Amino acid sequence: MPNTVLIGAQWGDEGKGKIVDVLSREADVVVRYQGGSNAGHTIEIGPERYVLHLVPSGILHADKINVIGNGLVIDPIALVSEIRDLLKRGIQAAGRLWISDRAHLALAYHQAVDASREGRAEGDQKIGTTKRGIGPTYSDKMMRIGLRMGDLVSDDYRRLIPQRLEEKNRQLCAMGAAPLDSAELVAQLAEAAAFLAPYITDTIVLLNQAYRAGKNILFEGAQGTMLDIDFGTYPYVTSSNSTSGGACTGTGLPPQSIQRVVGVIKAYTTRVGEGPFPTELNDATGEFIRQQGREFGATTGRPRRCGWFDAVVARYAAMINGIDCWAMTKIDVLDQVKTLRICTAYEAHGRRYETVPADIRLLAACKPVYEDFEGWQSKTSDINRYEDLPVRARAYIDRLCAITGVPAGIVSVGPRRDSTFRLTL
Ligand code: GDP
Ligand code: IMO
Ligand code: MG
Repeated sequence: MPNTVLIGAQWGDEGKGKIVDVLSREADVVVRYQGGSNAGHTIEIGPERYVLHLVPSGILHADKINVIGNGLVIDPIALVSEIRDLLKRGIQAAGRLWISDRAHLALAYHQAVDASREGRAEGDQKIGTTKRGIGPTYSDKMMRIGLRMGDLVSDDYRRLIPQRLEEKNRQLCAMGAAPLDSAELVAQLAEAAAFLAPYITDTIVLLNQAYRAGKNILFEGAQGTMLDIDFGTYPYVTSSNSTSGGACTGTGLPPQSIQRVVGVIKAYTTRVGEGPFPTELNDATGEFIRQQGREFGATTGRPRRCGWFDAVVARYAAMINGIDCWAMTKIDVLDQVKTLRICTAYEAHGRRYETVPADIRLLAACKPVYEDFEGWQSKTSDINRYEDLPVRARAYIDRLCAITGVPAGIVSVGPRRDSTFRLTL
C-alpha cells in the first residue's frame, strides 16, 4: 500500500474510522496527527462496536503499530480509560501503541475554560465545541505555556501545574467558574503518568525509521476539511489543521513520505456544532436522513445537522488536500429518498460562487444551486458486489465524481467491514 493520508472532506464524521479500519489491513503503521478526544471514530466488526477518540483506528488489527503523533492534544485521563476499555474487550495496546513525547496535554483547566466559554457565549459567539479543551490547549501550545507528554515522564508536571493553575484559576474565576485544586490535579496526573509512561516515546524517530525501512504508513485524519483552523468555516472550526498538510507537522514525517491522499466523504452532508451549512435541511427529509444514518455524535451524542451533498465543499476539499480518490460512505442511507439534490454552486446577493468564500457572513447568506437526481429507491446495504448496485445508485456516485473531478476508490453501503466495495484502492 502506498503511504496514505486519509482525511475527512466535509465537517467530520464522514466514516474515517471505518475506512481506516478497512485500509489498515494493508498498512504496517497507523498514525493520528492532529486533534484530540473531540474525535469519535466508530468501527463495527460483527456485533462489536468500538468508538475511538485518541487511539488510532488500526488498533483493531492485532499486528499493526499505532502512533499518537506530536500534533495531538491528549487528555491523559481520557486516554487511560480508552486504553483500559480496549483491554477489557481483549485488545492489547502494550508494545503496539506509541504516544509522542511532544504531544500536548489537554488538562482539566483547558476543559473548564472551554466549557465555561461555551456556556457563557450567546448567539453567534457560540461555537458548539465538544468541551474537550481542544481550543484552550492548542492556544497554550502556541503561547508556549503548554505541558507535553514528556513532562509526565520527567515529573516536570509536578512543578509546572501549580504555576499554570495560578493564572488559569484567575481566568476561571473571572469567567465565573470554580477554580481547580492543584494537589488534586497533580495526583490525578501521577496516576495517569504511571500508566502511560511505557507508551510514551520519541515517535518522530520511530516513524522515520519505519518509513526508511519501507513500512506502509496510514495517516488517520480527524475532524474534516471544513473544520480546519485555516481552511474551514472560521471561527466555527476546530483548532488544528485537519487537512492533509497537517500530516507532516503532526508526525515529523517529511512531505516525500506521502504517496496518496484519500478523501472520506458522505453521500450527503452533516455537521455538528454551530456555523453556516448551506445545504442544511431543516425539514422532514433532514430528519429522515438523521434517523436512517443514525446521525448522532459519537463523542457528545448531539444530533447531527443533515443536508444534501455539497459539491462546492467537495471540490474545495479536493483542491486543498490533493485528494486522489474518494472513499464515499453511507450510500445506503439514501436508499429510500425519492429525489436527491446535489449542490453545484452557491448564490448570494445576485452573484454566483463556485468555491467556499472566506467571509463567514457571506457563506451564511449563500443559497445552494441544486441539480436534482432521481433516487434508486431500493436496498443497497445487503449487496455484495459494486456491479450489483442499482443503476441509479451507480449513476449518482458517477455524477458526484464527475462534478468533483475525483474518482471513487472505495464505496461503502454499511458500517461493517464487508459492506465496502474496493474499486481502485
Ligand atoms: P468518523 O468520525 O469520520 O470516523 O465517523 P463517525 O464514526 O463519527 O460517524 C460515522 C458513522 O457512520 C459511524 O456510526 C459508522 O459506523 C457509520 N458508517 C460508516 N460507513 C457507513 C456506511 O457506509 N453506511 C452506514 N449506514 N453507516 C456507515
Ligand atoms: P471526527 O474526527 C465532527 C466540531 C465540534 C464544533 C467544532 C469545534 O469524529 O470527525 P472542538 O471541540 O474541536 O473545539 O469543536 O468542531 N468537531 C467535530 N465535528 N466530528 C469531529 O471529529 C469533530 N471534532 C470537533 O462539534 O463544531
Ligand atoms: Mg466522528
